[in-house]
Amino acid sequence: MRIYEEKNYENLSLRAAGLMAAEIIKKPECVLGLATGSTPIGTYEELCRKYQAGIISFRQVTTINLDEYLGIPSEHSQSYRHFMEKHLFSHIDIKRENTFVPDGLPTDAEWECTAYDAFIQSIGYADLQLLGIGRNGHIGFNEPGLSFIKETHVVDLAEDTVLANSRFFECLDQVPRQAITMGIGAIMAAKRVLLIASGEEKAEALHAALCGPITPACPASILQVHPDLVVVGDEAGLSKVPEEVKRCR
Ligand code: F6R
Repeated sequence: MRIYEEKNYENLSLRAAGLMAAEIIKKPECVLGLATGSTPIGTYEELCRKYQAGIISFRQVTTINLDEYLGIPSEHSQSYRHFMEKHLFSHIDIKRENTFVPDGLPTDAEWECTAYDAFIQSIGYADLQLLGIGRNGHIGFNEPGLSFIKETHVVDLAEDTVLANSRFFECLDQVPRQAITMGIGAIMAAKRVLLIASGEEKAEALHAALCGPITPACPASILQVHPDLVVVGDEAGLSKVPEEVKRCR
């Protein structure tokens, strides 16, 4: 594990985008696993700037997203497909046919999950998987539970997650209660995992993820055994992680 402690969110975003850009430069046809939510927005902005400056091109890149709400169409303003269009895809030269987000309105959700896993496996998993972390330690929408679920699956969102996500909807009732999420298997099969966390509200979860027991009660804790985990946090996000852990770079 390698931990980068950055002064603030802006620096965190610069660092994370720099690491992602390096991956694209090293392997132009790389597979990037992508996350949504507030945390990666700055990273995506910086990646767009790097593209506009001619430093990187996404022409040969394939992307696979972690998750999508179940029950809303991709055109919905809060769908994760829409999020990716707004914050990244519409600003860069990626081919739309190389961007993959689970279908939020599948005719058969079980089939959609199986097909998503089979596809990720067929392209050899992500070269780099970007992850945020929920306040409850979720990654993707792998919520705390009794076991780690390896496969892509339909998940009932935890009450805390629904509450956290309600800031993007007009009212709590509009927040989808279910999602399709990539499982722990595909996340752990990524060659490199880049976990980003910002702000005091993530400090507890990040501490549990990096220093606590490996347990499905904190899904992110499984990342402790990933062979190439890179954590980029700001000072507030890393405030509960002891110095000796931060130093073990
Ligand atoms: C979204 C996702 C989630 C978020 C997490 C943190 O694709 O995978 O695990 O990364 O909920 O969200 P923010 O960044 O909004 O705090």
